[in-house]
Amino acid sequence: MRVVLLGAPGAGKGTHCKRIADRYGVAHLSSGDILRRERAEGTDLGKKAQSYMDAGALVPDDLIVEMMSKAIRQASAGYVLDGFPRTVNQAEVLDQSLAAQKTGIDMVVNLRVSEGVVLERITGRRSCPKCGAVYHVKNMPPKTAGVCDGDGTPLVQRPDDTEEVVRNRLETYYRQTEPVVDYYKAQRTVHDTDADGDPDIVAATIFRKLDPLVRKQARRSMA
Ligand code: AP5
Repeated sequence: MRVVLLGAPGAGKGTHCKRIADRYGVAHLSSGDILRRERAEGTDLGKKAQSYMDAGALVPDDLIVEMMSKAIRQASAGYVLDGFPRTVNQAEVLDQSLAAQKTGIDMVVNLRVSEGVVLERITGRRSCPKCGAVYHVKNMPPKTAGVCDGDGTPLVQRPDDTEEVVRNRLETYYRQTEPVVDYYKAQRTVHDTDADGDPDIVAATIFRKLDPLVRKQARRSMA
């Protein structure tokens, strides 16, 4: 199963990609998480990406495409893409590279979120630097405040989650990433999903779209 999850900053891409990965046993490939890992490890890519991320701008396409192509090649059991593609150029390169391997994206889901909820969600987000689990101080708090439920690691706030940077990220989204939704809509069905509501309801809506796809793929592989 190869799925793309689109959405503005704070739409819940990371939250729901993790649930999709757990339910269907596919890899959760988050361009933002991979970049943050590269930064933490002090690699060349991490150093090059740092200033763009801190400003809420996009990291250049060539760096991202190389990084994500490598992650996709390694995900032999399928994947859900989180934060990639984020420009029309990235979407075109992805399509070309999958077509060359005689595959393609099975489903595109677009999480639609109101601008009003984005700021509250992002400034309240806390994440686990070890396993990547995402919490919210009010909406999805961990069992013990400030500590990851899964591995007990102290939770952190992302440096790009300040109000000023979030505004830049939103502006970048409208200018460079919303056209990706139109790019996909011109060639296929895009499953628009209301992501303002309760996370369990949003997840159930996504699973209702993905379950039949997974059943169909299972039937095909048994035939
Ligand atoms: P990235 O890490 O991808 O950030 P983003 O797209 O801005 O998305 P977020 O991670 O902020 O939000 P999300 O939709 O995952 O929401 P989440 O589930 O955490 O990218 C960071 C940077 O890396 C970019 O700015 C750029 O510089 C660079 N980059 C990454 N990919 C790139 C690419 N392809 N090209 C170029 N540059 C790239 O949820 C947010 C909060 O809300 C959480 O606290 C969560 O608990 C809560 N929440 C989620 N859903 C709900 C709900 N339904 N109800 C209540 N609360 C909820």
